[in-house]
Amino acid sequence: MTDGRSNTGRLITFEGGDGSGKSTQLHMTETWLSEQGYKVRVTHEPGDTQLGKEIRRLLLEGEYTPVPECELLMFLADRAQHVREVMMPALEAGEWVLCDRYSDSTMAYQLAGRKLADLEGLNSMLSFAELGISPDLTLWFDLPVTEALHRIRSRSSMGEASTRLDEEAQSFHESVHAAFAKLHSVHSDRISRIDASEAIDRVQQQIQAVFTERGLV
Ligand code: TMP
Repeated sequence: MTDGRSNTGRLITFEGGDGSGKSTQLHMTETWLSEQGYKVRVTHEPGDTQLGKEIRRLLLEGEYTPVPECELLMFLADRAQHVREVMMPALEAGEWVLCDRYSDSTMAYQLAGRKLADLEGLNSMLSFAELGISPDLTLWFDLPVTEALHRIRSRSSMGEASTRLDEEAQSFHESVHAAFAKLHSVHSDRISRIDASEAIDRVQQQIQAVFTERGLV
């Protein structure tokens, strides 16, 4: 871990816009790591704890539209619970935690997408919620917004429920995408870009190559 705690676990976060295929890849990565004997915990934000499930429902199912400030605080409330109830114990037990979304999503969706807090203010809120736990590696699933929106629409035409944020305007998704690209360029030591437009198996090969190149496996 990059935050100096005395555990041997690793935190790998999967980030990117909606429709980028990261959740499928997360499960493929879980299988790959488990086959090599690593103890892997798969988790996601928002909504992995019991309280988090309620927060997720309120936030994303579209019954309510929170003001942006409320939206930010609800994502952070989910994170504070998740970090303490799920992530910390798993990391302290030496597990590999594969987390579908974490603080880069807050940076991209709330800071950039909602044009919300100033960076300094958000950084201190994040460290309060996250206890300073930062990922060992972040995989950014990069997919052009038009392709991502196409995937979201075809999923919903096949009956899969979309979230309140999936339904935001294209300009919102463009801001989110630009923010992930910027985070990648600023934190290239931590964030690896994955070309999510390739076929599923090829995307998984890219991921495995990143783990190997970075000496993680
Ligand atoms: P997903 O579970 O299908 O990825 O949906 C989660 C949605 O929540 C997605 O649109 C991204 C959004 N989100 C934020 O806006 N801020 C955050 O901090 C997190 C974790 C997710």
